Amino acid sequence: MKILMVCLGNICRSPLAHGILKQKIKDKQLNWVVESAGTGDWHIGEAPDRRAIAIAKKYGVDISGQRARHFRPAFFNEYDLIFVMDRQNFEDVCALAEDKNDLEKVQLFLDNDVVPDPYFDDNLFDPVFQMIDKRCTEVIEKVSLSS
Ligand code: 4NP
Repeated sequence: MKILMVCLGNICRSPLAHGILKQKIKDKQLNWVVESAGTGDWHIGEAPDRRAIAIAKKYGVDISGQRARHFRPAFFNEYDLIFVMDRQNFEDVCALAEDKNDLEKVQLFLDNDVVPDPYFDDNLFDPVFQMIDKRCTEVIEKVSLSS
């Protein structure tokens, strides 16, 4: 199973989802791969936002080694599941899909809700961490049952 987490900048939300799920996968000794990318290209090659690094560290997850990548259409072939954090990400990723098979891989990470963008609001990092953490546990259960 190869999973891609996608947000806008790939420096706040998707690095958290990437790091948290990676840790849970390791704890469960699952042979899955999780990576992340952004639909925007402004932060390519950068480490996650220092506030994202700090909140992850507070809860025992190290995301400091991650580097931002830009979502590419080739990723549709590389990953089995592509989780997007909000509806704009959903639109932007789906616009690059070539066929139905690509489109079927794209899902809102929170089923029917969006992960708010914490970039302009420091107070959102903690609740965003909690909501991503809870959902990562559910994703492991859901994907384990269906694969
Ligand atoms: P992210 O947050 O999509 O969760 O990584 C953002 C990061 C950077 C920007 C916007 C959102 N930005 O405008 O540079």
